[in-house]
Amino acid sequence: MKITTIILAAGKGTRMRSELPKILHKIANRTLLQHVYDMSKQVENNTITIVYGHGAELVRNTLKDLDAQWIEQKQQLGTGHAVQQVKDHIDDGDIVLILYGDVPLLKRATVTQLLANVSDHSLALLTVNLANPKGYGRIVRDSTGHVTKIVEEKDANTAEKLITEVNTGIMAVRGNQLKAWLNQLKNNNAQGEYYLTDIIEMAVNDTVVIKTSQPSSEDEVLGVNNRIQLSHLERVYQMEKAHFLMEQGVTLKDPARFDLRGTLDNLGQDIEIDINVILEGNNSIGNNVSIGPNCQIINSIIGDQVEILANCVIENAVIGQGSRIGPFARLRPETELANDVHIGNFVEIKKSSVATGSKINHLSYIGDTTVGSRVNIGAGTITCNYDGANKFRTTIGDGAFIGSDTQLVAPVTIGNNATIGAGSTITKDSPENQLTLSRVKQISISGWQRPVKKEK
Ligand code: UD1
Ligand code: CA
Repeated sequence: MKITTIILAAGKGTRMRSELPKILHKIANRTLLQHVYDMSKQVENNTITIVYGHGAELVRNTLKDLDAQWIEQKQQLGTGHAVQQVKDHIDDGDIVLILYGDVPLLKRATVTQLLANVSDHSLALLTVNLANPKGYGRIVRDSTGHVTKIVEEKDANTAEKLITEVNTGIMAVRGNQLKAWLNQLKNNNAQGEYYLTDIIEMAVNDTVVIKTSQPSSEDEVLGVNNRIQLSHLERVYQMEKAHFLMEQGVTLKDPARFDLRGTLDNLGQDIEIDINVILEGNNSIGNNVSIGPNCQIINSIIGDQVEILANCVIENAVIGQGSRIGPFARLRPETELANDVHIGNFVEIKKSSVATGSKINHLSYIGDTTVGSRVNIGAGTITCNYDGANKFRTTIGDGAFIGSDTQLVAPVTIGNNATIGAGSTITKDSPENQLTLSRVKQISISGWQRPVKKEK
């Protein structure tokens, strides 16, 4: 059976108080619409249509890579009107699945259960019981428990307002039936809108049974209408990811203070993550890794037994087995550290590789550099890789020792086992096995008097 998924995403989202269309706001760094799309993508035999409207150009540009049909609803005249825009693209034999672009946490399993309820004789409707049903359409049932209609809050009478079973808006229905009912929608209601929910009563009149199912948790069907709800769903999403990680063998010191804004390609065992760690993009983390508090790790590959101490920012980097990073280290894109490398506090590394066993422990900038193995780079060493116009490379041979407070003016090569005296400005290649230093000779002046303050 072919499924046509329609994602309704044309609404403005006034209560967000934002220039940005609501569905472009993000949870875990992914737009709300992308969340709904990614879930729908997992439904088999399915083509996705997105009804968009508010912020049309920005929405399409931001999400142009989605494999979906885009249909513009120029004026937002209601959920029924939104689905009417898609009518010509629905085949009679299709099952039409209706989702909302601002309901980001709906689960595939809930959709599967919903789809099992639709047939020629039944319409599938996702409902939920809410302690506070205010604002939602209420599910009206007859004395035998059969659903007879949905009544919107603004059209509900006092008795109907007491109903706690509400419409999530998510439903599945046969194409031919939906098209027939869409043709009959009227906007003679409190909001002057074409309500999709009116098709429920039409279905019942056509002896189509309304089969309801419920999500496993109400958070799955909560929509985002303001930034308070956005933050609530962000935390729900993050807690779920935290639980998943803990089930995989990761210790989280506090699951409420952990954020995964992306994916994990590979996840080892006995990883220990302290508080306020953010993992962004696509990361891979080996076995027995420990990550200290307040670290941000983006698109990086972290080997086994790596220790990352507090307050590190690591982006597009590869860290070899047994290496130790931080505290307060910054690894910028294209940093490649081999095994057992030590990077200490206030060290910045960019577009550089560091071979096995080398140490850069304090206050250094290493950019566009190839560092050999067993190299020791002293405190305050700077690679001067930029002349204001072009970037140049520095090469440091195996076993070299770079004294503290050295500037290596690129392009420059330091030979294997070379030693550079502290405080040197190195502008020429330094031969292997030799001591190279550039330093003003130290002098002492005997009998020199320190100036004293003049008497007034
Ligand atoms: C709708 C339902 C209500 C349900 C609630 C669940 C109707 C008439 N009411 O109410 O029963 O309890 O959702 O959240 O269906 N949209 C468009 N074009 C439009 C109008 C809306 O694309 O012209 C989209 C919105 O962007 C949103 C979704 O449809 O994603 C729901 O619209 P919204 O205005 O939030 O519906 P509610 O009035 O809350
Ligand atoms: Ca809504």
